[in-house]
Amino acid sequence: MARIIAGVGSSHVPAIGAALDNGKTEEPYWKRVFSGFEKSQEWMRDTKPDVAIIVYNDHASAFSVDLIPTFALGCAAEFPPADEGWGPRPVPVVKGHPALASHIAQSVILDEFDLTICNKMEVDHGMTVPMNLLFGKVDRHAHWPCPVIPLAVNVVMYPPPTGHRCFMLGQAIKKAVESYPDDLRVVIFGTGGLSHQISGPRAGLINSKWDKNFLDNLSKDPQRLVKIPHIDYMREAGAEGIEMVMWLIMRGALDDKVDEVYRFYTVPASNTAVGHIILENRARGAKAAGKRKPAAGKLKRAAAGAKVERVRS
Ligand code: DHB
Ligand code: FE
Repeated sequence: MARIIAGVGSSHVPAIGAALDNGKTEEPYWKRVFSGFEKSQEWMRDTKPDVAIIVYNDHASAFSVDLIPTFALGCAAEFPPADEGWGPRPVPVVKGHPALASHIAQSVILDEFDLTICNKMEVDHGMTVPMNLLFGKVDRHAHWPCPVIPLAVNVVMYPPPTGHRCFMLGQAIKKAVESYPDDLRVVIFGTGGLSHQISGPRAGLINSKWDKNFLDNLSKDPQRLVKIPHIDYMREAGAEGIEMVMWLIMRGALDDKVDEVYRFYTVPASNTAVGHIILENRARGAKAAGKRKPAAGKLKRAAAGAKVERVRS
């Protein structure tokens, strides 16, 4: 059977993609961000998932504000990078996994989550930036290391789904993956966040205390997080902090008990607190494919600049 072996949380700041595409990763401002993902890229090379499910949000690139699905699953064979105003990013077309994606759609819809099915979809920085952070820079003519199933979540227009609903969808995805007959080792990403607000009087708001608490509870007590109402995200984490509910889909798709094998936090990148976490299921797919041993404890935490509370006000 297929199995989810680990979850990855990562911010998706578009300027990180621009820094990578324009050769600025060695500049001190950006090096601080990219260096926090070096160990994660090592972990990813070592883990070699067969498929990644990436929970992300579209920023009016594929859908526009005319049509906003709450949960949209990418079932296509490929997903080209979207033009976000400066031409498509120079990254490879993302190859999908239509067979597993259709299986997940069938399973979660019968479990009463009414997904939108996307048979044609472009993907924006919400997905391609976390892919670069975890897979590294990949030439546009080369290939990403594994196929990806995109799951786009509405966090751009109210009402977005609740954290509780997101967590339950994650649980349904876990069940779906585990009922797929092939031995696939799957990693699920939750992306976006952490605290940030990019417009209005509170633009620049960052709340490191909130972010740290979120990361702590994501590992140890996610049930505390699923109860957080939208208004608290808005007040405490800024208008765009609501992106963090996407991390709860990732967490819901993991086992109750997980090993936190890596964490990184730095402030700011552009307007955003960059958060990153890697959580491993304890069985970690050893049963599924017999390929590898648990890597828990191998990586260490890094937390740069966690004390900055407000970068602009
Ligand atoms: C920024 C962050 C985002 O999540 C986003 O989608 C766009 C911009 C920023 O920090 O500038
Ligand atoms: Fe965003």
